[in-house]
Amino acid sequence: MNVADSEVVGGILAGGGYTFTSDLAEADVILVNTCAIREMAEQRIYGRLGLFNRYKRLNPGMVIGVLGCMAERLRAKLVDQEKLVDIVVGPDEYRKLPALIDGAFEGEKGIAVRLSRVENYDDIAPLRADGVTAWVSVMRGCDKFCTFCVVPFTRGRERSRALESVTKEVADLAARGYRDVTLLGQNVNSYRDGVRDFADLMKSVAAVDRSVRVRFMTSHPQDMSDRLIETIATTGNICNSIHLPVQSASDRVLERMNRSYSIAHYLRQVEKIRRAIPGVSLTTDIISGFPGETLAEHEATVALMKEVRYDGAFTFKYSPRENTKAWEMEDDVPDEEKGRRVTEITEVQRGISLAINERMIGTIERVLVEAPSKKSVEAYSGRTETNKTVVFPRNGEHRGEYVDLRIDRVNSATLFGTRIREGNA
Ligand code: 5AD
Ligand code: SF4
Repeated sequence: MNVADSEVVGGILAGGGYTFTSDLAEADVILVNTCAIREMAEQRIYGRLGLFNRYKRLNPGMVIGVLGCMAERLRAKLVDQEKLVDIVVGPDEYRKLPALIDGAFEGEKGIAVRLSRVENYDDIAPLRADGVTAWVSVMRGCDKFCTFCVVPFTRGRERSRALESVTKEVADLAARGYRDVTLLGQNVNSYRDGVRDFADLMKSVAAVDRSVRVRFMTSHPQDMSDRLIETIATTGNICNSIHLPVQSASDRVLERMNRSYSIAHYLRQVEKIRRAIPGVSLTTDIISGFPGETLAEHEATVALMKEVRYDGAFTFKYSPRENTKAWEMEDDVPDEEKGRRVTEITEVQRGISLAINERMIGTIERVLVEAPSKKSVEAYSGRTETNKTVVFPRNGEHRGEYVDLRIDRVNSATLFGTRIREGNA
């Protein structure tokens, strides 16, 4: 989501006449887009601000700005306490950036942190560099108020973009050669444009160009509709991979999290999805050590992992966030115990991911060629429809092309394949 937002900021700044550099020493302005979801994300930004400060000493006219959720949360504190911050801009105020930067060059500190009920940057063309895969934000904000989560406070109320506008953006991307788009929202199931919902949006976007793969993030398990499941099942270029955050397997914990579903409901959803979409890949998010989480409740989550057999899971230590309801609850699971629980879940998941991947050895997978592999210039990496990364030897392919690969070996995170000749499949 922050990559997508940074691209919107890039679009606004390009419109304001700015050009971009990745060389900090050359920059007149450094903007850092921030996350506030966990304490750790914010700590990392403080470290980064220290680094920027060193560049500012060499170039005292430089403007440094903090954007995004941490800006929204800490506001004036960032200017007052961190003397090197000149501007602070929350997620709904990016249109003001050119004016705020100009003001900062004149020595004015700028703070713009109002949240909006309508801003969705619908008319801004995001500045994208990738050329093959794209994030497309379709709605902003969240009204769910899970008790652990700062997002409703930092990103404000839910609001959707127009269906035609999103569809047109995807058509432009397809015409420019993009082949994989991910529609983004904190809770895409709340997407509305008049009577049209997220299933309608997905259908419209998928019809733009059948050679473009369409993905989405994130669904809330309470509102994942049968229509959406059916749309995924029956539309060839909508990818069969679903991220369905469960957070915990205990009804008592889910209730205290205000997640508004029971684990029985969640499992029924999983069953429905599996029945409708054979071969679907499922991933999830887990929070370990939520206030009051007992050892038995943690073990229930471990058991759930083994029951659902997710393709992947992101597991986080609970991190108290100011203003949220859970902030008032006693953070009573010691940090060390949270770490132990996270490690246990991660280890169990690694075993499951490995077993799932091992069953793919010998199968043929269609992969979109995305980028040179991180580990070797001799190799390319791409993803399967089910969002698994495959690395394969480079042999004249180009980015944005689909190739058929035979999976030869795997680990828990990556598949390794070789290209099969046309006609061999
Ligand atoms: N502490 C730990 N994890 C959190 N998440 C959201 N808020 C917190 C928090 N306070 C996790 C949830 C969510 C994911 C994006 O981040 O699992 O699904
Ligand atoms: Fe946060 Fe819950 Fe909204 Fe997700 S659905 S962004 S966890 S409040």
